[in-house]
Amino acid sequence: MPTAPSAPTAPAGGFDFTSPFDRSGTGSSKWARADAPGVIPMGLADMDLPGPPAVAEALRRRAGHRAYGYTVCDPAGRALVADWYRARHGAEVDPDWVLLLPCGPRTALRLLLETVRPQAPALLMTPEWAGFAQICRAAGVPYRELPLRLGPTGYRMPLGPLPRPASAVLLSSPHNPSGRVWPTGTVSGLAGWAAESDALLVSDEVHGDLTYPGLRHAVAVTTADPAHRRHVVTLNSVGKTFNCSGIPSSWALVPDPELRARLTGTMAGYGLWEGGLLEQTVQRAALREGGPWLDALLAHLAAARTRLTDRLGAAVRSAPQASYLLWLDAAALGLPPEDARRALLERCGLEASDGAEFGPGGRGSLRLNYALPGSVLDTVLARLERLDLP
Ligand SMILES: Cc1ncc(COP(=O)(O)O)c(C=O)c1O
Repeated sequence: MPTAPSAPTAPAGGFDFTSPFDRSGTGSSKWARADAPGVIPMGLADMDLPGPPAVAEALRRRAGHRAYGYTVCDPAGRALVADWYRARHGAEVDPDWVLLLPCGPRTALRLLLETVRPQAPALLMTPEWAGFAQICRAAGVPYRELPLRLGPTGYRMPLGPLPRPASAVLLSSPHNPSGRVWPTGTVSGLAGWAAESDALLVSDEVHGDLTYPGLRHAVAVTTADPAHRRHVVTLNSVGKTFNCSGIPSSWALVPDPELRARLTGTMAGYGLWEGGLLEQTVQRAALREGGPWLDALLAHLAAARTRLTDRLGAAVRSAPQASYLLWLDAAALGLPPEDARRALLERCGLEASDGAEFGPGGRGSLRLNYALPGSVLDTVLARLERLDLP
């Protein structure tokens, strides 16, 4: 049954998430994947929605001053991150834990692995964001993939104790690809395991600030028992949350002072230092002034999620609780599991991520990014009617 088109409502909180947002001429890598006219790219994880006006204004203002030399880190940026966690997550982050990084979260993880130099395998629970395995391979870190279990409320951790020896668990939290918000007990349990195993829980929380209203994202460093904190690192960035991933920036919350110092040393070896010019400009504006935009965005994304999950029903493997990624069972969409990405492209003109990219647990799945204007989402839903949906 087709769903009703999105109502032409007033822009949410003064932000327009309904009208098409033209990204042509901006060099978008997501749109570069739409290699035929009319294709809607829904593979890569950034949003076809205009970012916060506060970020645009801050960049404009900063660019207006032609001093583009080396910058120092403004320590107030650390307090700003701590304030953000208190206000948005009710979490008490010590500003001393914060490292403000002039690189994206992917690079931050690579730097962390180079610092720790794990000998035993890192554990990945698949399906899992492909970046973890890719970075482990590039850094020469052995890894072992364990299957997540799919239950009625979404993915769950593997049964039984995690294998030893192991050096780390690398976890996307909330989960990419399914948008599952990991329960507090799961996160604190993994931190406990890390402490007992003299390992590290690396919790990549770039989707955490996109947790839908009414749900609670477990910030790993503050969810962990204080006695286990030294074994936990949280990574995050304004890139995903505020749709500015083209400007490299992230932060790491590292409660262990010794690890923090070593990580800073690794960065220095690559000519990276805390407090890059663009990174600070964007972070400051987003965290200080981006809250109302983010609230409006979350209302938009949660409504889009509901429209899609209502229509796609049992083909949705796990209803997203955060972010904008829909994890689908290709066979339930009537698509050939081994060739589903191509089939969806040909039949519906929708470009998706192939589930096989997410490790062994991802075969036979597709990931669709629904961070789209309401009007484009109408088109997507209409095109999905070309499939044999119940
Ligand atoms: C869990 C996770 N970490 C990191 C990233 C991206 O990091 P970067 O912007 O450094 O490529 C993504 C992007 O999809 C992600 O899902």
